[in-house]
Amino acid sequence: MTVPVVERLTRRDERAAVASLSEAFADYQFLTTLCPDPARRARAVGPYCRLLFRIAARRGAVFATADRAAVACTFPPGSEWPGAWAYLRAGVLSAAWRLGFRSGWRFLRLGSWFDATRAKHVGGRPHWYVILLGVRPAAQGRGLGRAVLGPVFAAADRAGVPVYLETVPEANVAVYRRLGFDLVGRTEFPGGLPNWELCREPR
Ligand SMILES: CC(C)(COP(=O)(O)OP(=O)(O)OC[C@H]1O[C@@H](n2cnc3c(N)ncnc32)[C@H](O)[C@@H]1OP(=O)(O)O)[C@@H](O)C(=O)NCCC(=O)NCCS
Repeated sequence: MTVPVVERLTRRDERAAVASLSEAFADYQFLTTLCPDPARRARAVGPYCRLLFRIAARRGAVFATADRAAVACTFPPGSEWPGAWAYLRAGVLSAAWRLGFRSGWRFLRLGSWFDATRAKHVGGRPHWYVILLGVRPAAQGRGLGRAVLGPVFAAADRAGVPVYLETVPEANVAVYRRLGFDLVGRTEFPGGLPNWELCREPR
């Protein structure tokens, strides 16, 4: 099997990357729990993916296959979650607004829970943080998810730092274990949202 070419994306690649991410996350459990209304969710998934793409792209840390079917939005070591102004400019209000008042408010408040959980596992240690990883449904199961994490693993290993991520569907835990992550925790967020926390130590 040929190894897919993986490229580092910029803001110019936003449209194609967000299109793939929106397909991948259309029925993602985080969004279905937060926003059970399918019509509303369909309107919200694009702004949600665009927000996370933009804040990762500002850090030069979005990786994708050449056809953009698989996209990994990440934070390199030392990155802070954006301040209020940068978050607003990246489009947080658009994502929250499309989710609707109650879901949007819950979405905004969940940020501090994600932060606190990550701090519990890797706080004080430089680390890579995978904030969004998605593969277009028709291209899943062909090694593209593994491929786009390749540059992150290589950089993390060179720097001797871990890679951290969280996922909502339990089914993803087996996939990430296969990719070299260890399950380090599980937290139940307000509203019964499960959060599985995984960490890959450097090789
Ligand atoms: C989760 C996701 C990113 C994985 O990407 P993918 O391209 O389908 O995954 P890959 O084909 O690279 O597979 C990765 C590894 O997991 C393994 N794997 C896949 N399904 C598995 C399962 N159910 N149990 C155990 N291992 C599994 C694969 O065999 C592969 O290991 P290998 O390379 O050693 O054979 C992708 O399915 C996706 O976008 N899902 C929807 C959105 C989502 O849930 N994103 C993650 C949010 S944290």
